[in-house]
Amino acid sequence: MSSQSGARFITFEGIDGSGKSTQARLLAEHLSAAGHDVVLTREPGGSPGAEEIRRLVLEGDPDRWSAETEILLFTAARRDHLERVIEPALKAGKVVISDRFADSTRMYQGLSRGDLRAVVDKLHALMIGREPDLTFVIDMDPETGLARAKGRNGTEERFEDFGTGLQRKMRAGFLALAAEFPGRCRVIDGARPAEAVARDVAAAADRALG
Ligand code: ADP
Ligand code: TYD
Repeated sequence: MSSQSGARFITFEGIDGSGKSTQARLLAEHLSAAGHDVVLTREPGGSPGAEEIRRLVLEGDPDRWSAETEILLFTAARRDHLERVIEPALKAGKVVISDRFADSTRMYQGLSRGDLRAVVDKLHALMIGREPDLTFVIDMDPETGLARAKGRNGTEERFEDFGTGLQRKMRAGFLALAAEFPGRCRVIDGARPAEAVARDVAAAADRALG
């Protein structure tokens, strides 16, 4: 019926350098051209307060925070982003596209240092309590992703610096996550030209938006 229906909260997930930001932008352009009111956002960040937390977690000494503190910081950033940006936009009938969301915490904090997935899930249930309607898992081999990520400049090296070992674990983790949430997750082969990936993403989003 109206634009209120369908899958309006869409997220992109996958390893660093897999093309999430590129695909999120291309999908935003595609849906805007189709007449949707689109909010393109990202995590960590997406609201002024959450962007401040982003700087705390992604810059500086990698050992600055324990794994547990990191879960709290990413979740605090997400709560602010949800309250101030995502929920108001969804209530106003907009489509929200977020470059990463809670699945990233399930993977990076839940798997990378010990097995803290249960802690991540508990905190998520308590403080976020919302899943996307549609999640694109952009899949590719870690070498390609890492080479692409290294091609960018910047001070936010922290997780990329863990190297291909962690990236391999994350890739497997994201594929397992897609199997865990088959209702909302679509695995997309990201090792192709951006336009080809974007065509698959757009087709799936069009179907889901109805
Ligand atoms: P992510 O957000 O997943 O880290 P980006 O979208 O920032 O990934 O892409 C990482 C780098 O790879 C960027 O320099 C981008 O221009 C480039 N890139 C993105 N998609 C593709 C693609 N399909 N093929 C080749 N290079 C790509
Ligand atoms: P992002 O800017 O998306 O990096 P990239 O474009 O390289 O994929 O995210 C920055 C880093 O933050 C990335 O290495 C993944 C990490 N991250 C977490 O560890 N936990 C989280 O909950 C989120 C959202 C991101």
